Amino acid sequence: MSEKIIWNPTFETGHDTIDAQHQHLVAIINALTESIGQSSKETLVGSIAELKAYAEYHFQAEEGVMEAALSPHLSAHRAEHQAFIDQIELFDLDVILASEGLAADMLYFLRSWLTHHILQEDKKFMADIRPNPPLA
Ligand SMILES: [Fe+2]
Repeated sequence: MSEKIIWNPTFETGHDTIDAQHQHLVAIINALTESIGQSSKETLVGSIAELKAYAEYHFQAEEGVMEAALSPHLSAHRAEHQAFIDQIELFDLDVILASEGLAADMLYFLRSWLTHHILQEDKKFMADIRPNPPLA
């Protein structure tokens, strides 16, 4: 399981803080991908908790930027963020870590959700905001 997200310029939204936070999310998911077959369950539980906590922090920051810009995409976007957090909460790591297939499915979900979200959904609201407005 070594498939990682490789950051490239198409991921850039043009908002420096949001881009830095997205890169950190990519780094957390890549670290999880690297460690999943090798680390203890406790370590992996900690990694998923770190991912969830950082995603929540980032989503709040991003929604604050959208709110300040009165983005019409805010409520749909907030629902997308919540669905991701809900899915992370549903991961049953006892079951997932006992199966290489389920672990691969979880990693695939994390990678594909984040890349789709950054490339499609986040770019939708970039037109609504001025360049680099302060975080709310
Ligand atoms: Fe987003």
